[in-house]
Amino acid sequence: MIIIKTDSYEDMSKKAASIIAEQIISKPNSVIGLATGSTPIGTYEELVKLNKASEIDFSDITTFNLDEYRGLPRDNDQSYYYFMNDNLFDHVNIDKSRTHVPNGMIEDADLECGNYEAAIKAAGGVDLQLVGIGHNGHIGFNEPSDEFDKVTHCVDLTESTIEANKRFFASIDDVPRQAYTMGIGTIMAAKKVVVVANGTGKAEIVKAAFQGPITPKVPASALQLHQNVIVVCDAEAAALLED
Ligand code: F6R
Repeated sequence: MIIIKTDSYEDMSKKAASIIAEQIISKPNSVIGLATGSTPIGTYEELVKLNKASEIDFSDITTFNLDEYRGLPRDNDQSYYYFMNDNLFDHVNIDKSRTHVPNGMIEDADLECGNYEAAIKAAGGVDLQLVGIGHNGHIGFNEPSDEFDKVTHCVDLTESTIEANKRFFASIDDVPRQAYTMGIGTIMAAKKVVVVANGTGKAEIVKAAFQGPITPKVPASALQLHQNVIVVCDAEAAALLED
């Protein structure tokens, strides 16, 4: 695991974007796994700039997002489908038919999750997966648990995640209670994983996940077992890490 400490959110975003750009340049038909949430927004802004400057070309890129709320229509501005269009896909030369976000409106969870997992495999697997980390150590919506979830599945969100996400909704009652998410196994199958984390609020979980014991109680800790992980933090999120 490589841990890169940057000075600021802006530097974290530039560094993460440059790693993704390198992937796209070295393999123009890469399969890229993407994340939503507030952390990667700056990374997407940098990727848009690089695309507009013709430094990276998305025309042959395929994407798979980590997760989506169950039961939230795609045109709801809090859906992850909406987020991805708004923050990245609408601003780069990507073929939208190659972009994939689990469809939270398909009620049959086993069907949708099974199809999603199969689509990732059919695309040849994920070359580079971008992930953020939740305050409780979740990646995707893989919440602390007694075991690491393997494949794309439906989850009940924990109170702490509902609490953390309520800022995006009119009221806490509007926050969906379930989501479809890649499993830890799906994420671990990516050839490379790039984690982004910023802010003081992430310092404790960054330390626990990447320098603490490997346990499904801290789902991101599984990444310590991955052969090719780069964690890109700002100074605040990296504050408790030992050299
Ligand atoms: C988003 C996702 C989540 C977030 C995590 C951190 O697709 O799967 O695991 O990465 O909740 O969210 P932020 O970046 O808002 O702190």
